[in-house]
Order: sequence, then structure tokens, then C-alpha cells
Amino acid sequence: MSKNKRGLRGLAATAAFGVMALGLSACGGGDAGDGGDDTTTVGFVAVGPEGAWREANEQNIQDTFTEEAGYDLKYAPATNLDQKSQIDAFTSFVDEGVDVILLSATESTGWEDSLKRAQEAEIPVILLDRGIEPDDTDLYVTRIAPDNLEVSESVANWAVGAFADGAKYFVLEGPAGVSVVNERNEGWDKVMGGNAAFTKVGAQTANWSTDEAKSVMETALKANKNDIQLVFAQNDEMGLGAVQAVEDAGLKPGEDVRIATIDGTKGALEALAAAQLSFVAEYNPLFGETAMEVVEKVLDGEDVEPYIIVPSETFDSPEAAEAALPERKF
Ligand code: AHR
Repeated sequence: MSKNKRGLRGLAATAAFGVMALGLSACGGGDAGDGGDDTTTVGFVAVGPEGAWREANEQNIQDTFTEEAGYDLKYAPATNLDQKSQIDAFTSFVDEGVDVILLSATESTGWEDSLKRAQEAEIPVILLDRGIEPDDTDLYVTRIAPDNLEVSESVANWAVGAFADGAKYFVLEGPAGVSVVNERNEGWDKVMGGNAAFTKVGAQTANWSTDEAKSVMETALKANKNDIQLVFAQNDEMGLGAVQAVEDAGLKPGEDVRIATIDGTKGALEALAAAQLSFVAEYNPLFGETAMEVVEKVLDGEDVEPYIIVPSETFDSPEAAEAALPERKF
């Protein structure tokens, strides 16, 4: 019998699972377990290739849950970001009886049935980065991620400070249906929504892509006769696409149009150091250690917070970027 069932049955504490485990321990928990195998099997339902941030995050998880550390990590990246491939991987992990499932959802909706199956199989599920909607915290143990509302609020607060007389702005969004996109809009609108000095001339998805963002921004600049002073790009790759579009329009990024991004990858800090970007809010991808601590606690039946926030910082000048670049790991 795998590690978690022993831990869960033995100790009965985690929030959602606590309830279920209680039920289990209350009924004495059936078969006694093999006590031998201490390797923890982890099914990682991942997003797969999607840019610098994703690569850093998923590599960090793989570099943390190693055999030496007592883990057998089964990495299952989605096929072309397709949710069905994620649900299939999730289902096979449940059927296989892994000890714990880590989930980075490509889509926020459509997870109820899968999560219920994991619960019936007593397999704790930990969300990494992405949330689910509706956010039923009874269906998973915890979510580990930076705080998207706080991160995007920090971008909006910078903009309010940077544009004393306000500005006309455009938002480059991530893919529709992804929780972090909704959360980043919510944080931005919380600050910008009520500020009459700022005018939203448009918002459009560019799917986290530099090329798509470039073409979306080219169209937006043309449609607005270059009368856009601020761009909020929900990730670095899209921000770099906006830089290209602004330059191709004969405008100066950082002067005529100021561009702010979220992620904090090397490429964006280099563009900030070169004054092409004006503000970068980190969305720290390196939370493998935190995830492993949480897995240990959960399998030992300990309680964990329903949302574990990964600290992130911001960069508001070329100097700040230059100072951070030498040690940058992603
Ligand atoms: O979910 C986090 C987002 O996904 C990052 O901000 C983006 O770069 C990634 O692809």
C-alpha cells in the first residue's frame, strides 16, 4: 500500500481530505499496508511547453522530486495544451494509485469529476500555479502559487505612479479560460477600474505568445492611430512582442509607449535593463521545495493552508534589472 494511504489513515488532518480521512480512520481503515516501500509516487499533470516561465517551473518541480529525495515523479505534460490529455493523464494516475497528484490545469473548468475520483481513491491533489473554477476547496488539498491579484495590482499601482496625468492603455491577455488570466484582470481592474484618468482602449488574448502579441499590438496601434501610452502584458513573452510592434510603428518603447509585464524571466529583465520594458512584476516559478514540503505534510496527515502564496518581487528600473540579472535562474 502506498505511503499516503498509510499517512492519511494514520493521522487524519488535511482540510478536505481531513474529512474523508476521518471517515476512513473512523472505520478503522481496512488493510494494514506493506510498510516496505518508502518511495512516494507523484503524478504531475503538467502544462508542458508554453514559454520561459513554464519551462522554469516544470523543470524546477522535476529537479526537486528526485529519486534521491525518495520520489518517483511521473511527469505528464499536456499534448498541445489540450485539457483532454490532462484529464486522461489524471485518470491513469488515479487508476495507478499514485500517492499524490500535482495539477497545473490548462483550463480552469471541467475538473470536478476527476477531483472527485481522486478523493474516492484517497489521493490528495495539490494545484500548482493554476486554480480551478468553481474554486471548490473541498475537492483539492491546497493551491501553491504566487498571488496573481497582488502581482497584477502591483503593475497597476506602478502605472498610476508612472502616469501622473493618466494614459490610454491596452491589455494583452493570456488564453481565455485560464484562472490566472481572470485573476490578473481582477487585480488590475481593482486599481484601474475606478481611475478616470486611465482609458482602456482595448484588450485581447495573445496566448502568452510573442508573435501573436506583436500582431495584436500592430492592429491596436493602427486602430488607435498610435494613441496608446501604456501596455499591460499579462506575461513577459507578450510584452516583448509589444516592444517589437511599438518599434515597427516608429515609436520608442519606454518613452512613447511604456510596457509592463508579469513573470520576471531573464528575457524580460534584459529588456527592462535596456529600457524597452518599463516595469516587470515577478511571478516566481521556483516553488518545487515548497511543493515537496507540502506533499510531506499532507502525506503525514498534517493540515496545510488552502492557498500557499509563493513570494514574488517587482522590478521598476533598468538598474533593478541589471542588479538581478547575474543571479537570475529563470
Ligand atoms: O500560469 C502562469 C502563466 O503561464 C505565466 O505567467 C505564463 O508565462 C505561463 O505560460
